[in-house]
Amino acid sequence: MSRLKASSPSESCVATGRSGVSRTTVERESSPELVQTGGNSGCSSARYRDEVRLAGAPTLPPKSLASYIHFFFAGLLKQGQTGGIVPSQKFLVEKMLSPIPQDFSGLVVELGAGSGALTLRLARRCPLARILACEINPVLASDTRMNLARAGLDRRVQVVAEPAEKVLGDLQRNQTGVDFVVSGIPLGTLDRERALALIRCVHRTLTPGGMYIQFQHSLLDRKKIESCFNGLRTVQAFLNFPPAVVYFARK
Ligand SMILES: C[S@@+](CC[C@H](N)C(=O)[O-])C[C@H]1O[C@@H](n2cnc3c(N)ncnc32)[C@H](O)[C@@H]1O
Repeated sequence: MSRLKASSPSESCVATGRSGVSRTTVERESSPELVQTGGNSGCSSARYRDEVRLAGAPTLPPKSLASYIHFFFAGLLKQGQTGGIVPSQKFLVEKMLSPIPQDFSGLVVELGAGSGALTLRLARRCPLARILACEINPVLASDTRMNLARAGLDRRVQVVAEPAEKVLGDLQRNQTGVDFVVSGIPLGTLDRERALALIRCVHRTLTPGGMYIQFQHSLLDRKKIESCFNGLRTVQAFLNFPPAVVYFARK
């Protein structure tokens, strides 16, 4: 069995001390499995040959043109739900992912995956992580699956076409430990009570010390997140269209 070296954690990583692994070698195996939402153990390092190889790749293949068109029309026709007409861009996504150690081997939950702008980069950045991504719009969920498959990153990512509230509820019922929740859901378009309910649901799903990473286009939701979490840091991402702000909230 040959061994491949995994990429090292970036300097900006915040080690969780719980599910991050110190292991730096990954063994070969031929048939990786999909994420099991009910499980919470670390991944077997033997499953991720292709993902480790891709983690070192300089670029991701472009997402399908159809997925951009679908996102654009979702943004026009379902404005409140989609919250934009173009997917997030690299600079914003990399800022959002920076606290997640590259050797993280637990479960990362993504809310509002769109066509997979963040999902693909997350899967490439963290070759040992399991990823559960939800997207309420079934066309975009299917585009995310397709874009992951095109990039060869689909084997440890599960994409469900379900609302975030249901996915988080299921994770709580199954007592699945989640250290990171990343979200693009447009909180600003939700009414106050629904936004607060979603934030509280994220808080309940996270393990103590876990992190909720949410991007928005304004600071209007800051107080809502602060009211639920112990620590909150905000970072501007000007190099995105439209410019965004990232909330990093620690449970
Ligand atoms: C601003 S887009 C972000 C898409 C992608 N993450 C990105 O960064 O390009 C927000 C996405 O959240 C989805 N969404 C909105 N409400 C949702 C909910 N309750 N559950 C799951 N997805 C939701 C929308 O359909 C949309 O694709």
